[in-house]
Parts: sequence; structure tokens; C-alpha cells
Amino acid sequence: MYRLSQLAALAATLSTAMGAYQGFNYGSSFTNGAAKQQSDFETEFRTAQGLIGAPAGGFTSARLYTMIQGGTANAPISAIPAAIATKTSLLLGLWASAGDVAFANELQALSSAIQQYGTALGGLVAGISVGSEDLYRISPTGLENKENPGAAPLTIAHYIKQVRDIIHNTALSGAPVGHVDTWTAWVNSSNQVVVDASDFLGFDGYPYFQKTQQNDIVHSKSLFDDALGATKAASQGKPVWITETGFPLSGKTMGQAVPSIQNAKYYWDHVGCPLFGSTNVWWYTMQDSAPTTPNPSFGLIGSTLTTTPLFDISCSSKQGQTSSSLISPSSGISSALSQTAQSTFFKPSETSTITLATTFLASNGTMTVASFPSGTVSTGKASSIKGSMGEAIAVVMMVTVMALFGL
Ligand SMILES: *[C@@H]1O[C@H](CO)[C@@H](O)[C@H](O)[C@H]1NC(C)=O
Ligand SMILES: *[C@@H]1O[C@H](CO)[C@@H](O)[C@H](O)[C@H]1NC(C)=O
Repeated sequence: MYRLSQLAALAATLSTAMGAYQGFNYGSSFTNGAAKQQSDFETEFRTAQGLIGAPAGGFTSARLYTMIQGGTANAPISAIPAAIATKTSLLLGLWASAGDVAFANELQALSSAIQQYGTALGGLVAGISVGSEDLYRISPTGLENKENPGAAPLTIAHYIKQVRDIIHNTALSGAPVGHVDTWTAWVNSSNQVVVDASDFLGFDGYPYFQKTQQNDIVHSKSLFDDALGATKAASQGKPVWITETGFPLSGKTMGQAVPSIQNAKYYWDHVGCPLFGSTNVWWYTMQDSAPTTPNPSFGLIGSTLTTTPLFDISCSSKQGQTSSSLISPSSGISSALSQTAQSTFFKPSETSTITLATTFLASNGTMTVASFPSGTVSTGKASSIKGSMGEAIAVVMMVTVMALFGL
């Protein structure tokens, strides 16, 4: 029987060895529509890498939405040479919601990029996403929000096949090819053909926008976890990558979700920090407000490029926050256990997990919580757990369910 601390250390070691990607989303243009040039991307990538207080590993990856350089018909996006110059890994993206002719230009840009940058590009590619939220945009909510046009599941599956044909026998032949969509699209069985066609599922989830549910900041973590769990259950065991999530620092209230720097930090600490280093994450986002600020705005640094974020992004304040009444310590335990269970290389059995959790909570009153991604294990008093017995049972049940479903 393993002790939790051993499991946590093991999982942390494996996470580090697996080298999860950690970065932000990058649009191809500024908010005034001006196309970003190579120097703009380079400055952004260097800023991301230099962010003060960044958790272990730093932010060295970039997710793109299009292969096409702004202002051209089908030239490769200049984020690619910028990524090569700054050693930034890339989740490439092809825009798939503008019809077949536009998609042919995306494919052409992908082809040209492979010819032009070859192995220098191949070594940096985390994956290729065919489309972004195209299925969401043809769903009732997408239509209601007037975000049409999208693309049908068969169209996306067909486009994925086309991308596979293009990268076959090239420097990108080893790149996983998949699709990014909202979690609501992934759990919709009418979109199954896209799951079938994908190597990975890119998960976009925003509790902020879940206005029909209880989505105040204190419930944001559980809404996120529920959405991620439902997506994993629909993934047929394929990897689920966090391609977009975040919480606005400013903007309109959505249901019970109130944008503020403090709430954005809460979301970062409770949703982001447990993921960093163990799961591929492209956060939304470092900057979305140059030169004008959208409503809502999710950027960590405001409208001027700076390596000083608007809140402490170090993830080191996680334990400090347990003193605040907002966080339930059990979420720390369950996330540590769930990360252990998520490890590709170690799947605890149902029984060992239950014993583990029970022993763990009933010990000398000291709660051990693995702090990812630093791999350190810190302790806190279990006696300070609010409603500890009920929560202990809840944690055990949750862990059991996770183990049963292989989450
Ligand atoms: C489920 O997916 C299909 C195909 O993409 C779409 O037409 C339908 O509107 C979706 N349903 C919901 C409830 O999102
Ligand atoms: C409780 O047990 C843990 C793990 O065995 C140990 O590290 C810690 O020092 C103990 N704490 C106290 C207060 O006895």
C-alpha cells in the first residue's frame, strides 16, 4: 500500500518527466484588427516566458487559431518564425468555420510552413487543432449568441483527414491532430464522429459563461471539474487538453459570476495551479486588450505588454488561501488525488484509493496536500476542515468514482 505522499511524489516526478505544455492563446491580430507581425509575436512570447512569479516550467507554449498570416491569402503565420526564435512550442490551429475555400488556404499555409521551416517547426509542435469551437457555434447556445457560422461534425472530421494527408511523411508526421471545442460540444453525442477522428480533445471551459448555473466564483472550480470530467467520460480515453479557460479581470457580470482581479486570481489559484505541470494548458489569456479592452477582458497583464501580471500568478499562495473561508481544503485533497489518478503511468485501483484516502484523513490530524507542479508536499491541520467527516466521505466517494471511470 502506498502512502499518499509517495503517490504524490511519484505523480509529480512523472508529470515533470512528461513535460506538460503550459502557455497562452494568441490571436493573429490586435483588437483594432491590425495583423500581428513576427516582431509582435516575438515580443509576446518573450513576455510570456518572462512573467514574474510564473509557476515551474514557465509559459513557453502558444496556441494559435489560424495558419495564415494576417493580410495575406495563405502565407504561413509569422508566429512560427517567432516561436522558432524564442523556443516556444506551438499548438497549431486551422480555422475551420469559413467554408471549404478558406480551409484550402489554411491547408496551403500548413504545407508552406512545413516546406519553409521543416524540422525546426517539427520539434516545436505540440499538436494541430483543426477548428475552434465550430461545433459550439452550430449548437442552440452558439446560435442564440449569434456566433454563427460554425461547421458540422462531418465537415470537421473530413478536414482532420485532409490535415493528416498533408503532414504524412513530413517533419510534422508525428504531431497529434485533433479539434478544440467547448465542453458542451464534446459531451454531445451527435458530435461523436469528431471524437473518433481526433488524437486529442481540446477542452474550452468557462464557468464564467455558465450563467444558468450557480456560477459565483466559489462554485467555479466545481463547475470546471464537472465539465472536464464529463468531457473525459466522452473522450474514449483520448487525451483531453485544456485549450482555453480563464476568468475575466473586468467586464459584465454573467449570472452570478463577477469579473474582478481578485476573482481572476481565485480562479487561477484553484483551477489553473493544480493543472499546471500535469496537464497541457493554454490559458485564456495573457493579453486580450491591445490596444482596446474588450468586455469581458481575460488578460493577466492589462493592455500594455509587461512581465508584471495584475495578480500574483506564483501558485505559492495556494496553502495561504486555505485560511480564507472561500476554499474548502477537501478540494486540495481531491485535486491532488485526482492528479495522481490521472497519471498515465499509474492508475490506483479502486480499493487502494479508498484505503489511501481514509488512512490519510484519519491520521494524526495532519493533512498532506501535494502541491503541483513544484512537486513539494505541504501540510495543514485537518482539524480546520469545515465539516470534515462529511467532506471526507464525499472525497472518498469522489475518488472512487474517478477511479472507476479511470479519470
Ligand atoms: C448537438 O450536436 C449537433 C451536431 O453538431 C447539433 O446540431 C445540436 O444542436 C447539438 N445539440 C446541443 C444541445 O448542443
Ligand atoms: C503527522 O504525520 C505526518 C505523516 O506521518 C508527519 O509528517 C507529521 O509530522 C505528523 N504531525 C504531527 C503534528 O504529529
